[in-house]
Amino acid sequence: MEQQTLQIEILPNGPMVVYGSCTLKVSGEIQKIEKEKTFLCRCGASEKKPFCDGSHKKIGFQG
Ligand code: FES
Repeated sequence: MEQQTLQIEILPNGPMVVYGSCTLKVSGEIQKIEKEKTFLCRCGASEKKPFCDGSHKKIGFQG
């Protein structure tokens, strides 16, 4: 069985991008994500955590 390598990119002043399918455990609930790209919030301001909703731009997140 070939093991896949998870690819993650940290966008400057923005979210973390996970490439390919992944499994998230959020508040004890497991979510299977079947997307080409998943944007995860790093700024803490998203109304749709753990996903990025673009709020980082409104708050001027730097990181
Ligand atoms: S990183 Fe985009 S809303 Fe937090």
